[in-house]
Amino acid sequence: MELIEAEYPKPGHVLLHLSDLHLVGGPNTLHGSVDSAARLQEICDQIIASRIRPEAIIFTGDLADKGELHAYERLREMIEPMCAALGAKAIWAMGNHDNRANFRAAFSDASEASKPQDPVDRSYFVNGLRIITLDTTVPGHHYGELSESQLEWLAAELATPAPDGTILALHHPPVPCVQDLAVLVELRGQAALAAVVRIRTFAPSWVATCITPRRRASPASRCQSPRPRVTPRTWQCVLADSVAAMVRSRTT
Ligand SMILES: [Fe+2]
Repeated sequence: MELIEAEYPKPGHVLLHLSDLHLVGGPNTLHGSVDSAARLQEICDQIIASRIRPEAIIFTGDLADKGELHAYERLREMIEPMCAALGAKAIWAMGNHDNRANFRAAFSDASEASKPQDPVDRSYFVNGLRIITLDTTVPGHHYGELSESQLEWLAAELATPAPDGTILALHHPPVPCVQDLAVLVELRGQAALAAVVRIRTFAPSWVATCITPRRRASPASRCQSPRPRVTPRTWQCVLADSVAAMVRSRTT
């Protein structure tokens, strides 16, 4: 019998991506009709039953709908048992609905900043793969932006090699707006982010992709690199949205 080699190797990493949970504090429902906590619990149950064992679960923002402390405490109560059952690390990014200070109050071990209102940027290593969360939120506004000091921090982080590369996780997608209204939630200053990422596309700590809500984008593809990007590994990414069906995909 002839052995056929698969076009892509088996994934080297398995990650789970959840976004836009929009949990509310207290007994209220989201927009008066959606029980976002019940939906999250349903998803948690499905994930555990699926037998998928991700190394990390990445949450890309809008964890709480109104940024209430109680919503973050509730989130922690729900997520910690799932992570413990799966043996997965929880990775958190902020969205425009989130409140940094309240998030930090509930997740004091998830942020290293000294001031409650500092951006929640953090670098995680998961079995050789680095995942960097960038806090693109601008308090009081819905659009996203990264400050100069955040970009400097990112550049410094990327100077440290990551054996299996780097994934950026952020709430505001660093891609062109295709709908007129989307400009309200656009990530501003995308060229500055691309400039930080571009020079590291082929470095030891190459940036492989970005994961954001609803869509993923490769910043490397926006950098007009002179040669195609070939990554030595693939990973499996399971995307789940709090209101959409779970989608499973593989990317290189
Ligand atoms: Fe959002």
